[in-house]
This record gives sequence, C-alpha cells and structure tokens, in this order.
Amino acid sequence: MSVPEHSPIGVFDSGFGGLTVLKEIVKELPQYDYLYLGDNARAPYGSRSYETVYEYTLECVKQLFDKGCHLVILACNTASAKALRTIQQKDLPKLASNKRVLGVIRPTTEIIGNYSSTKQVGVLGTAGTVSSGSYIVEIEKFFPELKVFQEACPMWVPLIENNEFDNKGAEYFIKKHVEALMKQSPKIDAIILGCTHYPLIENKIKKFLSPDVKLLSQGNLVAKGLKEYLNRHPEMEKNCSKNGSLTFFTTDMPEAFDKNASLFFGKEVKAKHLALDFRH
Ligand code: DGL
Repeated sequence: MSVPEHSPIGVFDSGFGGLTVLKEIVKELPQYDYLYLGDNARAPYGSRSYETVYEYTLECVKQLFDKGCHLVILACNTASAKALRTIQQKDLPKLASNKRVLGVIRPTTEIIGNYSSTKQVGVLGTAGTVSSGSYIVEIEKFFPELKVFQEACPMWVPLIENNEFDNKGAEYFIKKHVEALMKQSPKIDAIILGCTHYPLIENKIKKFLSPDVKLLSQGNLVAKGLKEYLNRHPEMEKNCSKNGSLTFFTTDMPEAFDKNASLFFGKEVKAKHLALDFRH
C-alpha cells in the first residue's frame, strides 16, 4: 500500500500544554508532518469528571483521524489518565483498528525509579490526574519498591494559561503545592512534572526545592518514546507522511491561541479554527 500524501502525527492537548511536548518531538523527529489540536474552548480539563474528559478527548481524537492522522499522541496527562485506556480498548477496535492512540504517562513512569535513591518519589499534576491514581498504578508496574506521593495543583494550569505565572502572586501557589508535597515525605528525591503545562514553571518550582531533588519533565522523554515506538512499529511508521510540516488547530479563537502559543512552543505559530459540535 502506498503512503498517504498527508498523514500527519496528531498531537492533542486540552489547550497549550501539549505544545511543550510537540516542541521536543519535532526536535527529535523533524522529518514527519504534525497536526496539533488544542481544545482551548473547553480547557482546562484538569478538574472535569471522567465522563467529560473521555467524551471531549474522544471527540478530538476523531477529528484528528478525520484529518488523516493514523497515530495520535495525547500530550495531556489528564486525558491520558482518564480517557486513553477506554479509547484504546473500547473505541479503537470499532472506530479504526489500524490507527493508534498513545499517552504521555508511561515514558516518565518507566524511568523514575532510576532517579531516586531514597525510593520515595513525588508526582505533581492536575486534580484529575492525581485522583485517577494512574501514576501510582503505572509506577508500581515498573518499580514496585517505590513509595509515590502526589499533590494536585489546581491553580497552576489557569495561571499558566492566563500568562500570569511570572507574576509574584503565582509564586504563592507554586510554593504552596511544592511544600505540601514535600511535607508528605521530606525524603522525596525525584519528582515527575505530571502535567504538560508545568515545564513553563520548572524554574519556579525548583526555587522551593532542595537542589538535590530531581525534576522530570515529559517533553524529551515522550519524544524519545515516540522514536522507539516508530522503530518497533514499522507498519505505523510507514503510514506517517514526511514533509516536515506543522499545522495547528484550536477549538477557540486562533488569534488568542497564536498570542500565547509561542510561549509554550518557543516559536510563532499560526493556528486555524476547528469547530466542534457543542450540541451533544
Ligand atoms: N496539560 C494538561 C495535562 O497535562 C491538563 C491541563 C488542563 O487542566 O486542561 O494534564
């Protein structure tokens, strides 16, 4: 079978956060075409129910499939935690058994144990990611000896999405949650940034941690994971078109998206609007 002319790799997030992952993926694998979709009209997902996150995520995945993607990365921890498994197990076999959807939780959980000597690790994430327990379950598979402590940081995504994270007021909330995590166990020596928005405040998080605590952010780990995945799955790789193009869609206003996106992506972007059917 011939390779479709335009079969980009889809990258999805509730809003801007997935751009921190896309940025690293493009660095690692510049040859492919990419289609980014930010569901800004319905972000943040972090405090929404299982059903809602699943429904929104599935709808966006279908949109990406309709636009020619064979492979979609959920570059959003909340969607990976609350929707990925159901989409993989229930929807994909019916919808498109030759297409794949991958998440962002596994690449950090399969290495976190190598960064800890105290065997006590932390996870910072949205309320949804933390309450799903997905990180605890995944880490247990690879490193059953680790004790995992979690802290939900519900204010961080709104502060980042509204470009308020560099202001003094933001530090109050950053400090509050970092201290709350370390209070659970002062022995924590490795922490996963379990939300694709958080790399933007990595330096601020570090301010409230001792220098020997390691922080793991996801971008480059997900990029390396994708590279390995494509090596292991030549049948998927050969379906990905390779013109090095980048296309951005947002479910909200493209002008507003473009204004903020460069902060996350490190480059100017020009997004198009993707209309969703809000009636159902
Ligand atoms: N960036 C997403 C994540 O990694 C969630 C942000 C949101 O709450 O929508 O969890």
